[in-house]
Amino acid sequence: MSEQRPVGTVSHNNTGRVVLVSGGANGIGRAVCEAFRETGAAVVCLDVDDAAADSLPTGIDFVRGDTSVEPDCLNAVDFAVTTYGGLDVLVNNAAIQPPASYVALDELPAELWDRMLSINLSGYTFLAKHAVRVMKQQRSGVIVNMASGQAHRTARQVPAYGPIKAANLQQARQWGVEYARDGIRVVSVSPGAIDTPLVRASLAAQGGERELANRHPIGRIGRPAEIAAAVLWLSSAAASFVTATDLEVDGGLGAFGSFADPYPMSPD
Ligand SMILES: NC(=O)c1ccc[n+]([C@@H]2O[C@H](COP(=O)([O-])OP(=O)(O)OC[C@H]3O[C@@H](n4cnc5c(N)ncnc54)[C@H](O)[C@@H]3O)[C@@H](O)[C@H]2O)c1
Repeated sequence: MSEQRPVGTVSHNNTGRVVLVSGGANGIGRAVCEAFRETGAAVVCLDVDDAAADSLPTGIDFVRGDTSVEPDCLNAVDFAVTTYGGLDVLVNNAAIQPPASYVALDELPAELWDRMLSINLSGYTFLAKHAVRVMKQQRSGVIVNMASGQAHRTARQVPAYGPIKAANLQQARQWGVEYARDGIRVVSVSPGAIDTPLVRASLAAQGGERELANRHPIGRIGRPAEIAAAVLWLSSAAASFVTATDLEVDGGLGAFGSFADPYPMSPD
């Protein structure tokens, strides 16, 4: 960590801040990387997708690594600290939901459960563990866990994704409480359906694009940039009293009761 780094300070925007985003090569993570970069932050993207990383805008560093492998997480944190002198924001975002995981519990292959558990849960723990060590020394930092609306309420055929996303909420609460006196805030964000490769890959399992959009009171699925905007706010000093909690960014999906009349489908 740089000796010149002011200890315990939090800038009022994200200019000059050092941000590490897992799964930043595509989808929501990519929008988060781009939004931080636009504010003048130094952005490090940790991802397994070399091909997508090649098309990242200039000014975003790519570190190849698998978040389910703890040394890869340590390596990414070390890269940020060595290159930029510290780490202000960690966005735990890399997760998978393969189409093959849309099955009932009794059909869930053990290998798929293990893979989702190791990326979607252990990966968040490994990155946070190493980020917190740096942030404690700085006496400042923010960790944002990308959770999901499915962490709060569930559906059929998500026996791995739903429970593991719920654990992402509890990670943020537990870490937020643990490190509140160290100047570290930890929050989670729970998106509704967002237009990303992950959602595009499973549209059939979710009734198609129109049906999925219609379930959101706002009448459409979200854009990655709309999640990035929430992450930027939560990471900034404007959210300085917000910790150990979750923000649902979902076009009203979570508030829409199962007893409510469905919205009429809009004509094509
Ligand atoms: N898209 C949605 O509708 C939606 C809704 C709720 C929550 N989320 C959550 O938002 C996050 C991002 O989702 P998305 O839709 O952008 O997904 P995506 O599949 O479009 O992108 C995920 C990125 O993570 C990377 N990745 C996957 N496994 C990795 C690993 N082991 N190590 C490093 N990188 C890895 C992929 O290469 C990819 O770049 C996830 O946590 C997801 O659960 C998404």
